[in-house]
Amino acid sequence: RYRGELRYEGKAKRVYATADPHEYIVEFKDDATAFNGVKKAQIGGKGQINNAITAHLFPQLEAAGIPTHFIEQLSSTEQRVRAVTIIPVEVIVRNVAAGSFSKRLGIEEGTPLNHPVVEYCYKSDALGDPLINSDTALSLGWATEGQLLRIRELALKVRAFLVPYFEQRGVRLIDFKLEFGTTPDGAVILADEISPDTCRFWDSQTNEKLDKDRFRRDLGGVEDAYAEMLRRVTAPVDG
Ligand code: C5P
Repeated sequence: RYRGELRYEGKAKRVYATADPHEYIVEFKDDATAFNGVKKAQIGGKGQINNAITAHLFPQLEAAGIPTHFIEQLSSTEQRVRAVTIIPVEVIVRNVAAGSFSKRLGIEEGTPLNHPVVEYCYKSDALGDPLINSDTALSLGWATEGQLLRIRELALKVRAFLVPYFEQRGVRLIDFKLEFGTTPDGAVILADEISPDTCRFWDSQTNEKLDKDRFRRDLGGVEDAYAEMLRRVTAPVDG
């Protein structure tokens, strides 16, 4: 097999070394967690769907000028990626109030935001991914000032690509989470995934949730929502 030793195992993915030190293999799992691991389950087909959606979107982001770690899809649940050092910062971009933003600020979910909001959280399961700001990341040596500026620029570029992309497919992109890594020369590139696990997707017509909130909030129809998002992401769009 092409997979070498297991380098990292997260809640939804495993990362393996390969014979080439500059490349990793990412395997997408069906496991789902919420509320910092308190709630656990399997979502049937999730690994395949998130792999397929990410493998569909990342090359298009690359073509739109956003460097990514993606090289190629290897199997239904695996992809080959460039080896990077993950910056331990979860970058959240919000277009519409929802989730922790709504809770923290007392703003009703679904309230459109007049300006995109970029938030940073420290990627730490033990601490529950606490909110930080870019000074925190700088002060603790997680990224340089130049890298933080680049992260913000790339996050907004991802937004500029994804918002109309999903709009054309009948989906409102409410918010999403990105992770970035650094290459040996210090360049920042997009890593991780873009999927119903890491985005809020609401149907444009009905505002029906088509993402992991169905699991988090026990709304049912989780597998169907993921399958529907795969269909919409990969379906050709007219005109
Ligand atoms: O929970 P919150 O409102 O902060 O989530 C904002 C966005 O980031 C949502 O799309 C959610 O799916 C994503 N997220 C994530 N991983 C986390 C926390 C949030 O993908 N650990």
